Amino acid sequence: MMDKGKAINVGLIGCGVVGSGLVELFSENNNNGVNLKKIAVKDSKKPRKVPFNNFTDNADEILEDPGIDIVVELIGGHNPAKEYLVKAIKNGKHVVTANKAVISEHGPELFELARKHNVNIGFEGAVAGGIPIINPLLEQLSLGDITSITGILNGTTNFILTRMGERIDYESALKIAQEKGFAESDPGFDVLGLDAAQKIAILASLAYGRWIKPSEVYCEGIAEIMPIDVDYAKELGYAIKLLATARKINEGEVDVRVHPALISNSHKLSRVNEEFNAIYIQGSPFDEYFNVGKGAGKGPTAFSVYYDIVKIAEMARSETVREIRVNYKDLKIADQDKVSTEGYLRLYLRHVPGSLHSVVGVLANHGWNVKDSIQRSGPRYEMTVDGIKCLPNIITHEPLPFGVIKNTIPDLINIRTEKGKSVHGIPFYMRIHNSH
Ligand SMILES: NC(=O)c1ccc[n+]([C@@H]2O[C@H](COP(=O)([O-])OP(=O)(O)OC[C@H]3O[C@@H](n4cnc5c(N)ncnc54)[C@H](OP(=O)(O)O)[C@@H]3O)[C@@H](O)[C@H]2O)c1
Repeated sequence: MMDKGKAINVGLIGCGVVGSGLVELFSENNNNGVNLKKIAVKDSKKPRKVPFNNFTDNADEILEDPGIDIVVELIGGHNPAKEYLVKAIKNGKHVVTANKAVISEHGPELFELARKHNVNIGFEGAVAGGIPIINPLLEQLSLGDITSITGILNGTTNFILTRMGERIDYESALKIAQEKGFAESDPGFDVLGLDAAQKIAILASLAYGRWIKPSEVYCEGIAEIMPIDVDYAKELGYAIKLLATARKINEGEVDVRVHPALISNSHKLSRVNEEFNAIYIQGSPFDEYFNVGKGAGKGPTAFSVYYDIVKIAEMARSETVREIRVNYKDLKIADQDKVSTEGYLRLYLRHVPGSLHSVVGVLANHGWNVKDSIQRSGPRYEMTVDGIKCLPNIITHEPLPFGVIKNTIPDLINIRTEKGKSVHGIPFYMRIHNSH
């Protein structure tokens, strides 16, 4: 039986942005007998500005040290991060990580290993940095019946979309994000929605009892959005956000996706701007859970990691193990083509009589019930596509299966009248989020 007053020793692997924030938290707080014993990094000779001096570049000095109770992995990436976590657990150590890549891909294997070795695993920092969501889901919300999770889970894209609302184009907004340190020099992982896909995969897995891999999440990025889309959305009463959603659509079926969407100005998430993240969960009996905060950064993320360490230290002292159960339900991932959605279509139409008429005919043939149609002229809207003067036409519609929408697009591109093609360039489609 572990002595209730026993000191708990922590070994940290990785001392970059989040790791250095964690070291500062340890130095600033009375940690109730939880001590940071050693830090492993890639290059222990590198000068560091953290209030700590026991560094090594041999992670085994932590993983194999019988005096270390909790191993904190903050190096990121798949390997060796996963190998270190596995080794730590096999050596009977509790583990804490903020690594969404490893948790989203290997969560079930790690949870099972932790169960087998009677240790705890914490990963609050892996989703939405400083916003408490993993522990609330594990300990409270998943006891209820979660109907949907909707999140703004990527700060970089939220920052870019906020700038685009100021009529700054996508490329320039991305550059500002990079200059401010909100976007990586290779921003693909964020702007294609892949980062948000890893995060919603983790949340949906914990909510619905079946592990959902990031590759099972339907994903679209934000690079095709133009500032005029943000203006049109405003005019129609919406904001544009990169939404990560998961919802039960039938008994035994979950719809999980990441894509930009129009979201009503009356929805709480529509007002979450800049680099902030937010999570909105609906279910019973709790009804609504909404939380907003910093989704990344040294302080917010380190604080989530620190919380996990403090909590796991308490559990270690009382010899409690929190089992994380996954894959106890047999759930199907919804086929996007069959999921109905309202939406917004932007087409560049040849500016001649009959173009719009020909488009309406094709839409009607595919069963579209149009709600709004907006067409504007003037220098801000006109565009020369394929050497032809075109105007953007915006169409919103009543719910339709996404497969029908996809099948309509080639027919629109192929419209020919006696004046030639009606639609130029590639039409851009975005879903409208309904408040499920
Ligand atoms: N940054 C954020 O805002 C944020 C937010 C949420 C979650 N996270 C997650 O937190 C984790 C850490 O991110 P970060 O931004 O702090 O990373 P980072 O700044 O790149 O730091 C990585 C650290 O890991 C060390 N390292 C790399 N490979 C190693 C190896 N093989 N063995 C030992 N140490 C190694 C590096 O050592 P050197 O210092 O010697 O190079 C460095 O100290 C990632 O999983 C990330 O996804 C980060």
